[in-house]
Amino acid sequence: MTTSTKWQLARAAAERYQTVLTPVILGPFAEALVDFADLQPGETAVDVGCGTGAAARYAARLVGVAGQVAGVDVNASMIEVAKSLPAVPGAAISWHVATAAELPQVAQTVDAVLCAQVLQFMPEKQPALVEMQRIVKPTGRVAISLWTPIEDNPYFFTLVDAVARHIGPETAVGLQSAFAFSNPDDIRSLLQAVGLGQVEMVIAQLDLPMPELSAFVPRHIRATPMGAGFDKVATAVQQAIVDEVCEKMAQFETNGRTQIPFRSHMILCKKET
Ligand SMILES: C[S@@+](CC[C@H](N)C(=O)[O-])C[C@H]1O[C@@H](n2cnc3c(N)ncnc32)[C@H](O)[C@@H]1O
Repeated sequence: MTTSTKWQLARAAAERYQTVLTPVILGPFAEALVDFADLQPGETAVDVGCGTGAAARYAARLVGVAGQVAGVDVNASMIEVAKSLPAVPGAAISWHVATAAELPQVAQTVDAVLCAQVLQFMPEKQPALVEMQRIVKPTGRVAISLWTPIEDNPYFFTLVDAVARHIGPETAVGLQSAFAFSNPDDIRSLLQAVGLGQVEMVIAQLDLPMPELSAFVPRHIRATPMGAGFDKVATAVQQAIVDEVCEKMAQFETNGRTQIPFRSHMILCKKET
């Protein structure tokens, strides 16, 4: 796997994404976005940039057997992993390899578009938002999550800072790119420009219980595009990064348990009519 700022992960990396990142950080936030979209039984939902499908699977439970759910991702490895996971009760999920800029859904057929931590990785965001606006029903909604600035996310900030100093900024950018679209004014302007103007934007903070950090940090790094750069440096350098993150995160430890706050924008858009 090479360092990539667009999270185009190969199959082994997509599996690591599912086993390492989804249970601890991305899964809880994907589910929080689905809750924010307030899905109802019988609705149709599309998870754009679904990755391994955390939002799609949770949405399938909520819309139930009368509903429909699709997951769309440009990365075939992510979709392969999504398909390989056990089915969840509720709606059957259809999986599609496609770019968000050309969604396979028919116009005005979707009640809720879900887009969890994806837009920041797209150099061209407008075509994807125009597509979301095209497929959503006039009465539907588009729910988007984007991390708040990295300085508001102490674990990510500390990790990126340590990787940048001990390895180099070109490796750190593999995680830093997840915070490339965090400014609320920039987000609002872009949504208004594509006719998704009726915007409700809140900051969701989840205090996530972390596994033992000395083991989790290297696994986490290897499940991101920073993995290749991390594997090239000496063990002592790797250990220095892990030690630094553990030391700085000790402030979030109580009775041997570490619970760290993570913050993301949750944005609900209605189509402008
Ligand atoms: C950080 S992951 C988030 C995955 C998932 N939504 C989640 O919350 O776990 C970003 C995802 O966006 C996908 N992605 C990036 N650019 C895309 C595009 N142009 N069209 C569709 N998916 C894209 C990547 O392949 C990756 O799966």
